[in-house]
Amino acid sequence: MKSDAPYIMSIEDLRVFYNTTYGLVRAVDGFSMYARPGEMIGICGPSGCGKTTSFLTLLGIARGVPGVVSGRAVYRGQNLLTDLGNYVWRETTSDGDIIKKDFVGWDKHYAGLIEPYLSTDLYMVFQEPRQSLDPYLKVGDQLMQVLSETGGLSGNERTEKAKSLLHRLGFRNPTAMCDKYPFQLSGGECQRMVLAVALAVQPKVIIADELTNGVDYATQVLLFDVLRQEMRQREVTVILISHELVTLVSQCDSIVFFDGSTTCEIMPKSKILEKDFHQSHPTTIHLIQDAFNIQLPVRVAEPENGDSLDSGVGQLRQIDEGHWVLGDRP
Ligand SMILES: Nc1ncnc2c1ncn2[C@@H]1O[C@H](COP(=O)(O)OP(=O)(O)OP(=O)(O)O)[C@@H](O)[C@H]1O
Ligand SMILES: [Mg+2]
Repeated sequence: MKSDAPYIMSIEDLRVFYNTTYGLVRAVDGFSMYARPGEMIGICGPSGCGKTTSFLTLLGIARGVPGVVSGRAVYRGQNLLTDLGNYVWRETTSDGDIIKKDFVGWDKHYAGLIEPYLSTDLYMVFQEPRQSLDPYLKVGDQLMQVLSETGGLSGNERTEKAKSLLHRLGFRNPTAMCDKYPFQLSGGECQRMVLAVALAVQPKVIIADELTNGVDYATQVLLFDVLRQEMRQREVTVILISHELVTLVSQCDSIVFFDGSTTCEIMPKSKILEKDFHQSHPTTIHLIQDAFNIQLPVRVAEPENGDSLDSGVGQLRQIDEGHWVLGDRP
């Protein structure tokens, strides 16, 4: 990966609402990230901060999302979040009644923009791996189906490719594994199988949501090894969503930190390892101290309450190469 290569994907100040019976829930309140080809980016934030929603929204598959209210999501030079003004959530009154004008049409508009990139370019390994697999189809058939859709391979070549993918993911007996239904797989086997399917697609960006959740250390090492091979060989970009900050720091080139539902810092791994936190956001410092059980020689202010529905807690400022920190709005 070249450090001056253009970003393959950048998301800036993404804000997303869910429409619930209790009203609008602001699920994401200013998510930002930057990724270059061949980089691994860690997304670290507390449960419910909007990590999954950010990427489901990007792929146009978040359920119950009335829309994106602000932001830019640029993929290979194209901003996908266009014409936002036409779809802004509004409540208008007429004769005292509230007429809710929601994001009707947003889904279709966005589906058209994102469709060319789905699966071929952008592939998400979901937080619940079993849900990624069709419960009624043997996993081998699912893998073969993906391989046939990627095209260019004969029947025999597809079989060989499937076997080699499963070998790479540590399945000693790929034939027996292919004959199983998803419910017959353990949690770790499921994680490996969905990653095999992801690799079969050969996407440019793999978004892995809690990929190593609940898997043993040896399996974690294996999964990361396989991802690293893909990054080296095909310059695949990996976006790793996880609560496990220590794992993210050990694996990723850069980490996105959240304060509430807002990105409070994007920090390169090199600076974290150098313990160069003198310009860092208080929440980043708290998180690092807690995760690594260390005391940093910096003054730590109490983090702001980022859960507030009022936006405007600040904006990300770039302070160094690959380093952005949330600050007050000018
Ligand atoms: N379909 C939905 N309808 C309404 N609210 C939702 C929906 N999905 C998620 N939310 C809410 O949006 C917020 C962000 O959820 P999200 O799943 O993106 O969090 P997360 O950061 O991925 O959390 P976790 O680490 O637990 O997976 C949460 O407050 C959640 O309750
Ligand atoms: Mg999640």
